[in-house]
Amino acid sequence: MDEFPVKGMDAVVFAVGNAAQAAHYYSTAFGMRRVAYRGPENGSPDEAVHVLESGSARFVFRGPVKAGTEIGRHIAEHGDGVVDLAIEVPDVEHAYRHALANGATGLEEPHVLEDEHGKVTIAAIATYGETRHSLVDRAHYTGPYLPGFEPAGPIVEPPQKRFFQAVDHCVGNVERMDEWADYYHRVMGFTDMAEFVGDDIATEYSALMSKVVADGTRKVKFPLNEPAESRRKSQIDEYLEFYGGPGVQHIALATGDILASVDRMRAAGVEFLESPDSYYEDPELRERIGEVRVPIEELRKRRILVDRDEDGYLLQIFTKPVQDRPTVFFELIERHGSLGFGKGNFKALFEAIEREQERRGNL
Ligand SMILES: [Fe+2]
Repeated sequence: MDEFPVKGMDAVVFAVGNAAQAAHYYSTAFGMRRVAYRGPENGSPDEAVHVLESGSARFVFRGPVKAGTEIGRHIAEHGDGVVDLAIEVPDVEHAYRHALANGATGLEEPHVLEDEHGKVTIAAIATYGETRHSLVDRAHYTGPYLPGFEPAGPIVEPPQKRFFQAVDHCVGNVERMDEWADYYHRVMGFTDMAEFVGDDIATEYSALMSKVVADGTRKVKFPLNEPAESRRKSQIDEYLEFYGGPGVQHIALATGDILASVDRMRAAGVEFLESPDSYYEDPELRERIGEVRVPIEELRKRRILVDRDEDGYLLQIFTKPVQDRPTVFFELIERHGSLGFGKGNFKALFEAIEREQERRGNL
């Protein structure tokens, strides 16, 4: 018996300084389609909220429309960032009570929202930093997002082929990884996935320790990073300093054609981390990754990384931070059997990130 059943990710909710422009950026650069809106025109005097989708991935952008709001304070403190990793559950009351009984902090008691499209039950618990998990049951709702939201059309013509179809995993940067892994074990009954990045990665390069927790069905996967001692300033320390504490570091988006997605996102102005040429020339890497679906030259041209484990392989690439602060970024991931997160790429990735940190003067 799963003590905390989940259906999957419900939404990634961002607090941003300008939700209208964020909605435009994620429409043009990430190929997303706007589906719903709420703002001063329809019952939300304090903030404008745009809801965008790509396949099963749902992003919600909340921006303040006047001074003195809670969302405005959040942005002043943390910059643009993720405020809520909302999880869809079959029974909100059960999930909320289970979470609180196991030490979670309740932020919103279970309550029902209703409009002509049906009802949604929702509650919220706190997680690391100022991040929350809304627990959402939308089984009896047919509207575009939540009661109170109006359907809204796409901002630009959506691409014929979407750039990604799901949220693969959401990574948190925290000060104490074990404490938060334990939180997910206790509160949500999540278990550790095999991938663990420890001292072997921590020694020479931008140091971090990482653990991955996931629900029993592996639909919701939350890697957790903690800074570790290293010869230079860790990228996790840089995040914690500029975000002002723990928070969401990156959202990985699952794509069936990473080459096409990267090409179109680059063409729309998205900047990706440049993995070094040495990565693609390394005979050990070529030996390790074996046969993948495209020639390595095609990956090298686009700076796409490859990792292989006993289950298969994955292709992945990381964007640069997508706001002014060096905090939140995205990953595109195309899985072929592998259930991993790219552990084998950490070294190559760190070298690339360090070059960026050096340019910002934060090493
Ligand atoms: Fe990732």
